[in-house]
Amino acid sequence: MKDKIFAGLLLLSILLQGCDNQTTQASTAGNDTERKIDALLKQMTLEEKVGQMNQISFSGENGKVRELVCKGEVGSILNITDPDMINSLQQVAMEESRLKIPLIIGRDVIHGFKTIFPIPLGQAASFDPQLIEDGARIAAIEAASTGINWTFAPMIDIARDPRWGRIAESLGEDPYLTSVLGAAMIKGFQTDELDGPTAIAACPKHFVGYGAAEAGKDYNSTFIPERLLRNVYLPSFEAAVKAGAATFMTSFNDNNGVPSSGNKFILDQVLRKEWAFDGFVVSDWTSIAEMISHGFCKDGKEAAEKAVNAGVDMDMVSELYVKHLKELLQEGKVKQSTIDDAVRSILRIKFRLGLFDNPYISTDAKEVIYAEEHLQKAKEAAIESAILLKNEANILPLGDHIKTIAVIGPMADAPHDQLGTWIFDGDKNHTVTPLKALQQQYGDKIRILYTQGTAYSRDMETNGIPAAVSIARSADIVLAFVGEESILSGEAHSLSNLNLQGVQSELIEAVAKTGTPVVTIVMAGRPLTIGRDAEHSKAVLFNFHPGTMGGPAIADLLFGKAVPGGKLPVTFPKTVGQIPLYYAHNNTGRPYQGGETLLNDIPSEAGQTSLGNTSFHLDAGVEPLYPFGYGLSYTTFEYSNLRLSNTQMTASDVLNVSVDITNTGNYDATEIAQLYVQDCFASVTRPVKELKRFDHIPLKAGEKKTTTFTLPIAELAFYNIDMKKIVEPGDFNLWVGPNSQEGLKASFVVN
Ligand code: NOJ
Repeated sequence: MKDKIFAGLLLLSILLQGCDNQTTQASTAGNDTERKIDALLKQMTLEEKVGQMNQISFSGENGKVRELVCKGEVGSILNITDPDMINSLQQVAMEESRLKIPLIIGRDVIHGFKTIFPIPLGQAASFDPQLIEDGARIAAIEAASTGINWTFAPMIDIARDPRWGRIAESLGEDPYLTSVLGAAMIKGFQTDELDGPTAIAACPKHFVGYGAAEAGKDYNSTFIPERLLRNVYLPSFEAAVKAGAATFMTSFNDNNGVPSSGNKFILDQVLRKEWAFDGFVVSDWTSIAEMISHGFCKDGKEAAEKAVNAGVDMDMVSELYVKHLKELLQEGKVKQSTIDDAVRSILRIKFRLGLFDNPYISTDAKEVIYAEEHLQKAKEAAIESAILLKNEANILPLGDHIKTIAVIGPMADAPHDQLGTWIFDGDKNHTVTPLKALQQQYGDKIRILYTQGTAYSRDMETNGIPAAVSIARSADIVLAFVGEESILSGEAHSLSNLNLQGVQSELIEAVAKTGTPVVTIVMAGRPLTIGRDAEHSKAVLFNFHPGTMGGPAIADLLFGKAVPGGKLPVTFPKTVGQIPLYYAHNNTGRPYQGGETLLNDIPSEAGQTSLGNTSFHLDAGVEPLYPFGYGLSYTTFEYSNLRLSNTQMTASDVLNVSVDITNTGNYDATEIAQLYVQDCFASVTRPVKELKRFDHIPLKAGEKKTTTFTLPIAELAFYNIDMKKIVEPGDFNLWVGPNSQEGLKASFVVN
């Protein structure tokens, strides 16, 4: 049947040849899909071509959408999730429209569809590509069962500013970690067979630099010079292309004066020419029209012209291509070949997704949603994503001596808020909260007292605190569940103050004063400045919003059925004034030496130079609250015997780095060992450390293992003073350790 349709199309195309003066890509010859695309293109009217470049948001079926699909004036719909409606619109596309081109159906499936996994920043704390791939796979299976075939994920923006609400959706601050985990997510969504029944197209976003918004304020301008762009912000996107990402999304920000949706350098030069990307690029939501507000275009027509000429193939809901491309073509401001190339890219992905062969979903496949194995995987992800920040006197895990627990705090039983941002399709009725999990698992053995203390994270009311103090007095331990409501992070939800909101800190302090030890469990969408709260707590377990199964995961961690192993994918500042604060910074000419005089130690009328002229904040020093890569376990690990296969290398060599790691504590556990490198002297200044490898090392109590990292020296290349990506010969330092601040050190030379 399929073959007959295409034989027909080919014949038609031969008959129509000459009617259309489009150019075709040289590379198309010999490739079956490309031939089919060419055949289709030859039959398409300009309106139908522009239709493919038009994405609309579904706002309920009112006949209008059906009509647009029927006329071929829309290529993609987002925000439609009713499988029957999707099937019915696909049917219009496939049976009633002239050229029978299927729709691509987009949705923000970010950290789960129905079964919600930890927010991406939490997943990143697992440092576990397989876990992340599995999570994306489950999200894809659930989403595909409703007819969604395209997700706007992963978000692989490098995020170094916790004020920025979208840090929640990121994989953290590090280019290497983000590259590895982003590629894993793409594989999970797409699999190796994009036309498989449960594969959905990925859309790495936001291209590019969005995470560097000034002041961490969403949508704000960025000023990333080309070298920094290439060394820090582009690598995760290049890795995404290598992982086979089908589509890309432009970002909202203007970088150095050029909004991404009008940025030919990034879209054409870098993405198409340097990386040979052959999928399609969609704008972000109205980001083409927003180039008018940016002051980059005077009206919608100019915005359409700049976007299409820059390389944005599909317009997400601005509808400016539909309005203006025809006229722009007639005026010679946009070339036919530009439009054809955009349509070709869109059709290519529709072919690769297998949509021409089977655009429909079988609506009896719905039982995959909230499947038991999905919930179990979500729990596993929440366990691996939890980060133990403090555990004084090994107060955790809770032992048999605990007979009464006081559970307090606004996040103990907040089924909506623990799901985190971007859960359009998640349902809080399926959430298992920590309170519920503790009651279910331990309610018959342990007395569990509960009062919120404060109703929600921003609540300023202190009336509830005395009740919390009262149950704290009767308990052996306080479990204080604090953090952020989900609405406080995510798109457009930036903050300038990262302390616990409302009266949560007062609540912790008040219960701590009872003398009953406090374990603070944080659930939040970003790093928080919780130094004061940590001081009042014997232990701190940090969970970036952990999703549907956060409760059982946390219960297992608290009672030692699981051992925390997550590591921070982002630096935690002590105070907002330290931001931006990230481990891979360059050195100043006057690095902090340690021992400088801090604010409270300065004598009055101190002399101008008495404090030491180095780079630090008088009131905060230079240290973060917790560094990148940090995270404790219930056991302890010792690193020893670091050795390199060779200390004299060339750029084409491969360095083997071995280290012994011993589990010196009492629990079987997994350590995430991290390898960092510093290029000591170069034609441009280089970061003091860069993560180059990490590995999970499972170790039984008392066990010792040797782990070996393989590092091709070619991976030390960077964009140098001549904007060439090369390994510059010279001295290098290397560390292997448990986080970005500790580790064994060695050195080598590249000749
Ligand atoms: C705007 C967001 O920036 C983007 O990430 C998202 O995919 C689109 N809206 C579609 O919802």
